[in-house]
Parts: sequence; structure tokens; C-alpha cells
Amino acid sequence: MDVFHSVAEYRAWRARQAGPVGFVPTMGALHSGHAHLMAVCRREINTRAREGLGPRGSSVVSIFVNPTQFGPGEDFDRYPRTLEADLEICRAQGVDAVFAPSAREMYGDSYPEGFTTFVEETRLSKPLCGAVRPGHFRGVTTVVSLLFQATRPDRAFFGLKDAQQFFVLHRMARDLHLEVSVEGVATVREPDGLALSSRNRYLSAAEREIAPLIAQTLGALAAQLEKPLLDDTHSLGAILSEARAGLEARGLKVQYLEPRRLPDFELWSAADQAADRPGVLAVAAHLGQTRLIDNRLIHGKHLKSLGYILHI
Ligand code: PAJ
Repeated sequence: MDVFHSVAEYRAWRARQAGPVGFVPTMGALHSGHAHLMAVCRREINTRAREGLGPRGSSVVSIFVNPTQFGPGEDFDRYPRTLEADLEICRAQGVDAVFAPSAREMYGDSYPEGFTTFVEETRLSKPLCGAVRPGHFRGVTTVVSLLFQATRPDRAFFGLKDAQQFFVLHRMARDLHLEVSVEGVATVREPDGLALSSRNRYLSAAEREIAPLIAQTLGALAAQLEKPLLDDTHSLGAILSEARAGLEARGLKVQYLEPRRLPDFELWSAADQAADRPGVLAVAAHLGQTRLIDNRLIHGKHLKSLGYILHI
């Protein structure tokens, strides 16, 4: 496995790849969720080679804790940085190259003053995390544009754990004609349902016991939203506030718990429910000092017919 810290060195390697290049961007502190993305990437870019129809594909992982997607007072400084362990995980997944640039390599020697060009998606990125983390998605779209530009992948793989991020980046790639296929991968969970996250390591033992309630609540609610009808005693608003109260009763501070229509992220209405439209039920909550997010797709299978490539 090759490890590159500069774009120039990476590019020389990139120029030698005959087959398709698959890309998994990360911020490190890798866990089995990231490993699953790498496994899907490797499998997918080799489908033609396996049938004898083309050269073997290569997979690239980037590891970069991106400063521009963290707000003031967020956890940029204490975000876990575990490069050696991360490289081991990449090796074990058969990754061909890791791109681990410095902030100067990505944003230039005179960052932050000297970097003044940003990429912003202006619609899907507004609600949910966009509303509670101003500037976050602008940082994500900017860095992923830079990473795509640096690594020149054919296909890129993102976890549906961060569903809004996936849809925003999918839109960005299409709007800007980036010629990168942006594909979604299923969320990997602990046996008790908790979605794997680099931030789970911040949880105390007591908090770790409460955390699975998020996934359990989402599972139960999403099942209700997939049912055709809600009656008056179980209006959408009523079941959402009941679920929110259940989380808060266990000490979770809910930032949002909201169903949104896909792929436009407009508010999900009773009409969307009646028409079986696809949606996402998304939650963000603080548990002590730790911010956790999770979601469930509603009628997720319909997204494939809308042209989304989802490995779920
Ligand atoms: P990071 O949080 O490191 O996540 C990297 C990728 O792993 C993302 O696509 C994320 O959705 C996926 N992922 C995280 N937890 C997962 C889980 N439990 N199951 C499946 N996939 C999971 O997301 C980012 O970094 C950054 O915003 C980035 C896109 C790299 C831009 O800086």
C-alpha cells in the first residue's frame, strides 16, 4: 500500500493506474463503518476485471481532518488522530493508496487568509445539520471538491450514516459535471443498533448504554412512517414529539428529529406518506459532550429507480 502526503506524489501514482479508481474520503479515526466502505469500493471497482472485461481497479482512501467543516467551538482540536492504526485498517482492506495531506497541502501555505474559494450547495444543505452547523456543508463540499480534484477518482463511496452529506455531494457532482459517480453505502451498526462513529469513543460507559436508544427510536418511527395512514390520534406531529420526549427523558438533548422528503430534503408531509415517497428520518442529539447523528431511509428502495447508486 502506498501512502502519499502530497498531491504531486499521488498524481504520479494515479497516472500509472490502468483501471478505474475508487475513492473513500475519510477524516481518519477509522472503524468498521469505514472498513465496510473500503470493502464495497474494492469490490465495485473490480466488477469488470472479475469478468475479464478490463484491467483491475485501484482503491484510494483519504485521511484528512478537514478544518473548514468544523464550526468555532466544535471538536476539531480534539478530533481523534490515529494515523498508524488507520493505515493498518486500510492495509487489511487491501487499499492500494492512502492520501493523507496536511492542511497546507490542501489549502495552501497561507491558509486560512490565503484560501478564499468555496464550493456551496444551496438547497439540500440548508435544513437538519445545515441549520444547526452553519458553514459545515460548505466545508464538506469544498474539501470533497478539492479531494476529487487531487485524487481524480471515477467513483466515490460515502456512508448513508451521513445521509444528508451523501445527497449534497451527489448533487454537487452532478451540478458541477465532476464526472465522479457518487455512491451510497449502508450504515454499519453495533449489535445493539448504535451506528458506528469516530465520535462514539467520546462516550462514557453510562452514555454508551443510552446511545442505542437513538437507533431503536428511529427504527420504530421509520416503520410507522412507511405505513400508509396515520389517524388523528397518531398524527405525524404527535408521534414525532412523543419520540423526541422519549429520547429527552433519557438525557439526550435532541437538536432535530425530522422526516425529510428525498431527494429534495423538503419537509415530509402527510401527502408524501400517502404516496409512499422516499424520505429520510434524521436525528441529531447531544449525549453529554458528544454529538451523535443517525437516520433511517423511508422507502429507500425507491431511490434506486430515481438513479441513485446505493450499496445497501
Ligand atoms: P468521516 O466522518 O470520517 O466519514 C467518512 C465516511 O465514512 C463518510 O462517507 C461516512 O458517511 C462514512 N461512515 C461513517 N460512519 C459510518 C458507518 N457507521 N457506516 C457506514 N459508513 C460510515 O464524513 C466525513 O468523514 C467527512 O465529512 C468527509 C466526507 C471525509 C469530508 O471531510
